[in-house]
Amino acid sequence: MLVFGTRPEAIKMCPLVNELKARSDDFKTVVCVTGQHREMLNQVLHTFDVIPDYDLAIMKPRQTLFDVTCGVLLHIKAVIEREMPDAVLVHGDTTTSFAAALACFYLHVPIGHVEAGLRTHDIYSPWPEEFNRQAVDAISRWYFAPTSVSCENLLAEGKDPERIWVTGNTGIDALRTTVRGDFSHSQLDWARGSRLILITAHRRENFGEPMHRMFRAIRRVMEEHEDTKAIYPIHMNPQVREAAHSELDGFERLHIIDPLDVLAFHNFMAASYLILTDSGGIQEEAPSLGKPVLVMRDTTERPEGVAAGTLKLVGTEEEVIYREFSRLISDERVYAKMSHASNPYGDGHASERIASVLASED
Ligand code: UD1
Ligand code: UDP
Repeated sequence: MLVFGTRPEAIKMCPLVNELKARSDDFKTVVCVTGQHREMLNQVLHTFDVIPDYDLAIMKPRQTLFDVTCGVLLHIKAVIEREMPDAVLVHGDTTTSFAAALACFYLHVPIGHVEAGLRTHDIYSPWPEEFNRQAVDAISRWYFAPTSVSCENLLAEGKDPERIWVTGNTGIDALRTTVRGDFSHSQLDWARGSRLILITAHRRENFGEPMHRMFRAIRRVMEEHEDTKAIYPIHMNPQVREAAHSELDGFERLHIIDPLDVLAFHNFMAASYLILTDSGGIQEEAPSLGKPVLVMRDTTERPEGVAAGTLKLVGTEEEVIYREFSRLISDERVYAKMSHASNPYGDGHASERIASVLASED
């Protein structure tokens, strides 16, 4: 059984769902979505043609961590008891993953953690994700680590080396199928002839003043560079929308648009000049596409992209973001250094590896 609930988990779990379903001699595959996200989850399910067997439909507007944790725990119990799966696979660090894993632990059902071992070692950054991923790793039986760095993190915590497999990240499996030379979109037509800046932001620890500072810095730099246009496919969280509209409305070279489906978003990334984000998944996708990313966070659990030179951590202070964004947009040598394609997160065959490990288990 695979359990997921938000957009990024779905993007990284649907390739695995389809791989396991293709091996129907080895597996009976059951998909349970929690519905922690609704529209943004449905977009991904539709793209990958995945129809869930169970949908817990827990999302509420402006939900708190209490709402999500309790909603998943209470609703998933009956599903697990009914299916009694040989393994439940959860992904990464969301509250869906944490609560689903906790439910499995309570019911003595073994857990496989896809994207195990990422760490900042600061449980408040990102919040609550660093706690969630550590907690899932405390109770997992199978650790599917995307890179050797994440494998080392698990080994340093004393996890059994026999239970860790370095597979690559399933997000790259998804990326392999989406970027197309002939992709077109009216927003990309609008941006043609300008340097396209792609923006996303949604982290809980950045709500309030940090998010306002980010948006102010971005607007200041763009006002100084008339050959730039920005597209910001905005997260559906009302708190994010309020901050973005209050700082960015009225600036004509920046378009705030609804979330893009993953196929479109990957093609927007491929067409962009650079990316400003606090997202996790985008930090993994951008290096393969050779797109520089300024990461508007104080920490990252994805040091591989920083080491590869594609990512730079710029925090959430207005003046630092202003300075780093200005430098990247003005200095061609700095830009050239950050725009080399590299593949620190795998070759796009992670799902096959995970399925093979599970098939070989008793
Ligand atoms: C969640 C995850 C975060 C992940 C992010 C990806 C947790 C605690 N957070 O954060 O790790 O990086 O997803 O995007 O697990 N909303 C909608 N429709 C949607 C999705 C969201 O309206 O399809 C709105 C709702 O008002 C909802 C709010 O956004 O209450 C927040 O959603 P939630 O899943 O709690 O938090 P995210 O910031 O999306
Ligand atoms: N993404 C998308 N549409 C968008 C913005 C992002 O499909 O409008 C994809 C992006 O390619 C990446 C994932 O969503 O795979 C990142 O999700 P998000 O930033 O919501 O969460 P995080 O990765 O930070 O957990």
